[in-house]
Amino acid sequence: MSSNIQGMFGRIAGTYDQVNHTLSFNQDIQWRKASADQLTRDGYVPKKVLDLCAGTGDFALAVKEKNPNAEVVLADFAKPMLVLAKGKANNKTGMGFIEADVLKLPFQDMAFDTAVCGFGVRNLDSLEKGVKEIARVLKPGGKAVILEFFKPTGMFAKTAYFFYMGSIMPARGAAISKDKAAYEYLHNSAKNFIKVKDFKQLMENNGFKDVEIEARMLGVAYSVVGIRK
Ligand SMILES: C[S@@+](CC[C@H](N)C(=O)[O-])C[C@H]1O[C@@H](n2cnc3c(N)ncnc32)[C@H](O)[C@@H]1O
Repeated sequence: MSSNIQGMFGRIAGTYDQVNHTLSFNQDIQWRKASADQLTRDGYVPKKVLDLCAGTGDFALAVKEKNPNAEVVLADFAKPMLVLAKGKANNKTGMGFIEADVLKLPFQDMAFDTAVCGFGVRNLDSLEKGVKEIARVLKPGGKAVILEFFKPTGMFAKTAYFFYMGSIMPARGAAISKDKAAYEYLHNSAKNFIKVKDFKQLMENNGFKDVEIEARMLGVAYSVVGIRK
């Protein structure tokens, strides 16, 4: 399963940003920025940040822009994604890149104070194992911010998923990326994913406290923030 996902993301890496920005009308950029702001809203200062499922690096770059002194490590198991991320980082200091599976992170316990993950956890073979790995590499008091599409619940999100993400998005994503299956997978993985309130519970059961949820675009996406116990 995960080797299929790894191969699929490797194949669509070259058009990934273009498809994201086109299909979301650039909202994805705002969502990552808002989640980076959410991280520091209460005066929290991230020092050593792990961006999981980092892809082409947009979430890591949003965090770095707001926190230029933070060291940010990008981890992803699709090498073509990381190659693009490295290019976009353009030799910025304090950025590292590592090919790694989120379910088997090559880091010691408590190696980071902050973890971010944008549109990544939905793809994990075991969500619980992924959350436990994130908790393992965070120091107590550290923060995790997960930005994701969850199973739509409100009327606006349900309508958006049904009409836009269910038909227009796979067709347009396929037209740009030439990979219809990938964009059908992305739609189905969101539609069939757990509800955000169940994800909050999963985080609370696996090492996090004070978990808060913020809706992006009336629940089309959500940002979930938790503190490592
Ligand atoms: C939808 S993209 C999100 C990329 C980026 N975070 C963003 O905000 O656009 C999902 C990324 O997660 C990576 N990924 C999925 N499962 C993974 C796993 N088990 N370990 C590491 N990376 C994984 C994929 O290779 C892909 O780059």
